[in-house]
Amino acid sequence: MKDFFTIEEIDEVVLVIKSKTKHNPKIGLILGSGLGDLANSVENADIISYGDLPYWPNSTVHGHAGKLVIGNLENKSLIVMQGRAHYYEGFSMAEIGLPVRVMQRLGVEIIIVTNAAGAINKDYVPGDIMFISDHIALIGMTGNNPLRGPNLDELGPRFPDMSQAYDKILLEKAMSIAKKKKIKPFSGVYVSLSGPSFETPADLRFMKVIGADAVGMSTVPEVIVAVHGGTRVLGISGISNKANLDGSTITTHEEVLEAGRIIVPKLTKVIKGLLTEL
Ligand code: HPA
Repeated sequence: MKDFFTIEEIDEVVLVIKSKTKHNPKIGLILGSGLGDLANSVENADIISYGDLPYWPNSTVHGHAGKLVIGNLENKSLIVMQGRAHYYEGFSMAEIGLPVRVMQRLGVEIIIVTNAAGAINKDYVPGDIMFISDHIALIGMTGNNPLRGPNLDELGPRFPDMSQAYDKILLEKAMSIAKKKKIKPFSGVYVSLSGPSFETPADLRFMKVIGADAVGMSTVPEVIVAVHGGTRVLGISGISNKANLDGSTITTHEEVLEAGRIIVPKLTKVIKGLLTEL
């Protein structure tokens, strides 16, 4: 496990990717649990297994394919992570952030990051999508920040501002596209924990009080690295389950993956719509 990557190491990965594709993606897409099928819409795709990339965190979780898909969608060149690694799998925060670093060094300017999340907000039901307006980095507040360690000034500042982590223009565009496509355009605050255990009812009531609308085990580390490097971010949570605030139901990984089947067509519509407007 590595806690820090030099620019030379990041660029080692970049060189391997460049040797395997002629595409020159400006947009990155990270697909969360159960959402990997969206990558099947990519045309003229070059596919690289995570196992063929040095240092790359290769997810072991069911529902994550472990492939980089580089090609076109709506005539835009994009790089798609079909599956992502999570902190709970044992990777370091630096390893979780590495794919974003690599995208930045490849020239990616916008990252669309997706995840599966539990609904704390009682208005959301499984199958809904929530555009992320802001996040609570519970995982980072306890010291697990992907920027911990020496700062690479060439990549970004030591103390990056996070007041506008989620690009307002992208958020508004995505919400208006959702509305036009008759998809409920929720936006809210995502809170990230390390997992892998789901939350207790008391955990969830705490998260509600501090202002979270949806909860999950990913996204925040990648967004922090993206913002540090000046990349614009759109975040989308696919609501897979209602969070269990009163202890009356249980949450399973299977229902998270099942909800993905309803969410993928909605996400595909929104992301395709957005790509045509970029
Ligand atoms: N909690 C945490 N992570 C999740 C959930 C949840 O309820 N659903 C999907 N990912």
